[in-house]
Amino acid sequence: MIPPRLKFTGKDLKVLDQRLLPDRVHYLTARNAKETAAAIKDMALRGAPLIGCAAADGFALEMRRLRPSSSEELGRLAVKTADLLKAARPTAVALFYAADRMLSRALQFAAEHPGRFPPADREKFLKLAEREARLITAEDEAACLAMGRHGAALLPKNCVVMTHCNAGALATMGIGTAVGVITTAHKAGKVKHAYSCETRPYLQGARLTIWELMREGVPSELITDNMAAHIIKTCGVNAIVVGADRIAANGDTANKIGTYGLAVIAKHHKIPFYVAAPTPTVDLKARSGDDIVIEERSCGEVTFVKGKRIAPKNVRVRHPAFDVTPASLITAIVTEKGAIRRPTAASVKKHLAS
Ligand code: MRU
Repeated sequence: MIPPRLKFTGKDLKVLDQRLLPDRVHYLTARNAKETAAAIKDMALRGAPLIGCAAADGFALEMRRLRPSSSEELGRLAVKTADLLKAARPTAVALFYAADRMLSRALQFAAEHPGRFPPADREKFLKLAEREARLITAEDEAACLAMGRHGAALLPKNCVVMTHCNAGALATMGIGTAVGVITTAHKAGKVKHAYSCETRPYLQGARLTIWELMREGVPSELITDNMAAHIIKTCGVNAIVVGADRIAANGDTANKIGTYGLAVIAKHHKIPFYVAAPTPTVDLKARSGDDIVIEERSCGEVTFVKGKRIAPKNVRVRHPAFDVTPASLITAIVTEKGAIRRPTAASVKKHLAS
């Protein structure tokens, strides 16, 4: 079993500190939106769907902390809270989806209860906000199970599968997206072997994904990122499954840096390349991958490993944390609704409307 990633108590949010995994299972406490945003920014929790669930919880906590005297003030504070949460990280659209969904609940309540904000209204609103946050988590859990089923059905028997970064239970409130596909297929007896790329520089594959696969009993091995092409060519890899942080309207997909390279290798070797992500990952405002903001993280994450410098002092470094895989390299995007094969703007639109 993977330990709970988030525990919402109503008074605070206990966050499994993923920076300490796999060595220690330790929870930190976030009591408001600022502390939740800091936990997201500092990577105590990460993974697109999980960031969204945490943002919803952080929003609900902040609403309990604040004491607006009028609905107008509630509206202003709700906008400020959503903005604070959305500033934590720029690429995963789940964060924006959850914060905006909580915000629209607050604004709707404020519009329906104009004027003074008496204690009875406050209690009513807090219940509503907490219910919405719980719903966002429940929807994520259910989406993971459905993606697991749809994705596992696409994998061949005796599958040798590769994944990148961590799109597992640790990245969601459910069984995970890409890793959920692998563990579901494993339970159905379809997985011969799984490879987890270590995912430099933050090592989500080495610290988190292989840990999850081992705990779930999936026969698996960890490889460094630069081994991927060789392993695909020589070890019978017949599918790659990854998660997504944001999918543009035309199917272009932003995911952890290194994903695009794997898709290119998959194309060369004529093996399917699957993206598993819940529908809120699709950002229709982004017409193509060019419209997706790619987070640039600190140089220190590249030049230091576990506090030890591995490159010359004052070296110039680039650290884009995500890349965009063009839709043309994606065999199918698997959502909770099923698979979008050979995604295009038209098929993505049709799928969302279905
Ligand atoms: O920087 P991270 O660890 O938040 O990046 C995570 C990923 O890129 C995952 O692949 C993605 O969020 C999908 S998670 C189900």
